[in-house]
Amino acid sequence: MTNKNLVFQESVVDASTRALVKSQKPITLWLTGLSGAGKSTIANALELALVQRGRHTYLLDGDNVRLGLCKDLGFSDADREENIRRIAELAKLFMDAGLIVITAFISPFQRDRTLARDVIGEGKFVEIFIDTPLAECERRDPKGLYSKARSGVIKNFTGIDSAYESPLNPDLRINTLEEDLATAVGKILDYLDQWGLA
Ligand code: ADX
Repeated sequence: MTNKNLVFQESVVDASTRALVKSQKPITLWLTGLSGAGKSTIANALELALVQRGRHTYLLDGDNVRLGLCKDLGFSDADREENIRRIAELAKLFMDAGLIVITAFISPFQRDRTLARDVIGEGKFVEIFIDTPLAECERRDPKGLYSKARSGVIKNFTGIDSAYESPLNPDLRINTLEEDLATAVGKILDYLDQWGLA
């Protein structure tokens, strides 16, 4: 709950000045998809491509954030909601600092992604669905977690005993069965170029 005794303190150097110094438009590229879908791989290649264009970026990645800021959270629906809320607020702060933010979180629930869009702001939130079928993620199983989930060692695993709600109308959709890494990154850069964002 918001404390009514708090008043937002304006800073002398504001968001537009910080962005101007970096000659860029801050934005959040929000990658969503199943564990093993390829979010981190695409996020890393995308960040590298943006940095090579002279952009100032920051990458927020699921496991890393959960090792620090969100280490008190698990994988219940409520904890995932709080995880996404914190990440959205963090992305907003980094954008305030003038950065292009890339996030790579499962973010399985539509309502939490909508909340993230509301926090970050319409027009500054690009939802990118990393669309890899569950069977393919399970075949890849890069961290061995699907096999642990199937045997019941891990509970509430997305796609197994916790839901993943696919975005109905994402800004971009990457089909990793048909598009290789370079194609996926190119598609995102083209989208940013088209909107004058990169
Ligand atoms: S989210 O649902 O809250 O968005 P997040 O992206 O932060 O999830 O974390 C997902 C990562 O945590 C997965 O890539 C996987 O490595 C690990 N993980 C551990 N347990 C689970 C689980 N029960 N469900 C999903 N991912 C899990």
